Amino acid sequence: MPPFPQVLPPSAELTPEGHLAVGGCDLVELARAHGTPLVVYDEGHLRANARAFRSELNALAPGAEVVYASKAYWGLAMLRLIEEEGLSVDVASGGELFSALSAGIPSERIYMHGNNKDDREVAELLDARVGTVILDNLAEIDRIEAAASARGVVQRALVRVTPGVDPDTHSFIKTGHDDSKFGFPLLGGRAAAAVERVRRSPHLELIGIHAHIGSQLLQLSDYPEAARLLAAFALEQGGEDLGVVNMGGGLGIAYTREQQPPSVAEYCRAVVGAVHTAWEQVGLPRPRILIEPGRSMVGRAGLTLYSVGGTKDQAGWVDAAVDGGMSDLIRPMLYGATYEALLANRVADPEEVTVRIVGKHCESGDVLVQAARLAHPRTGDLIAIPATGAYGVSMASNYNGVTRPAVVFVDGGRARLVTRRETYADLVAREEPAPA
Ligand code: LLP
Repeated sequence: MPPFPQVLPPSAELTPEGHLAVGGCDLVELARAHGTPLVVYDEGHLRANARAFRSELNALAPGAEVVYASKAYWGLAMLRLIEEEGLSVDVASGGELFSALSAGIPSERIYMHGNNKDDREVAELLDARVGTVILDNLAEIDRIEAAASARGVVQRALVRVTPGVDPDTHSFIKTGHDDSKFGFPLLGGRAAAAVERVRRSPHLELIGIHAHIGSQLLQLSDYPEAARLLAAFALEQGGEDLGVVNMGGGLGIAYTREQQPPSVAEYCRAVVGAVHTAWEQVGLPRPRILIEPGRSMVGRAGLTLYSVGGTKDQAGWVDAAVDGGMSDLIRPMLYGATYEALLANRVADPEEVTVRIVGKHCESGDVLVQAARLAHPRTGDLIAIPATGAYGVSMASNYNGVTRPAVVFVDGGRARLVTRRETYADLVAREEPAPA
């Protein structure tokens, strides 16, 4: 049994040589075959998550829909898996829409988000016949209406409401509070005005409301209040065109051994219970419930492997420099996020020192893990950082001309490359030739 299994995919195990293995694949062999940094997803766990969300939600709320928030990881292999498992997809830009369509997601199962959909994205979503658009602002309502009218089509829509709740999470990933940049606040009648505006449009078909209150929530206590505010709003607005409520994403995952996120079943019970209770209390029939999990679908299923280039003894700790960093995992720098670390090539070696795992970028803040207790690291060791499956590669950059990692899916002892490593040629592929 590897240490802190709660942050690793459930298939994680130790090989007789003391290597970490996932999905029946020895990570040392994977690193040898594909190089590092390497992002490894346990495909079985991805599928189990998709099925768990679907079955738990539908058992409680028949007709409910799980909409995968593809921003967490929009690789085509993942989107194809989502399609095979019968889930829908949330896209937040033209690029994510293109990826979803490229993966074969039926357009009627796509939900198009974004707080600033431009003319091109509006044209793309209408031309693709995207099932539902989530309306964020008045300018965009005008834009979509005009484009839908020009095409002679009617676009189904949800109005994004900002309920005015303030969940306990990093300020960058809160979205339900009154001064959020997203959606129409209940405050000041702005959401009511939006609903009224959409109802007046012959080219928009209102089907309900949407609210995403925040991300990486480790407790579910804000859902009842959010649902209560939404139900009161639905009552006030009346009408049969508010029969859908999309409660967004938000379920957190464990990044460290101390964190204890709710299970998928607990999350579904909390959200469905909150909505059913709130709608019953105002005397409205139960709405159809949608949820948009991102992080909790893919986070724990993925880990990143790095090679140690060199080490430095510092005052009370050892720096281990790895061959990636903030370009493939920005979350520690951006949100102060903490991660665990393991020596994947000698997992069982006793802890000896405190290790600061530093990236290869020209920034002192490029630190992936501040203080991991590990055996003394050596050049050539393989470091695994667990729970990097969400908002890791999807937020990757090319800072310092560092190429983005390869991605493999593992399952039943087999590994398949799903995204090749970026090349130097990729880095300059968009540059124009020197003028003659
Ligand atoms: N739906 C909407 C409208 C959202 O804005 C989000 C996330 C989700 C669903 C999915 O939420 P999740 O289930 O993943 O919590 N880059 C940040 C996370 C940003 C989340 C933005 N919106 C991070 O690395 O923590």
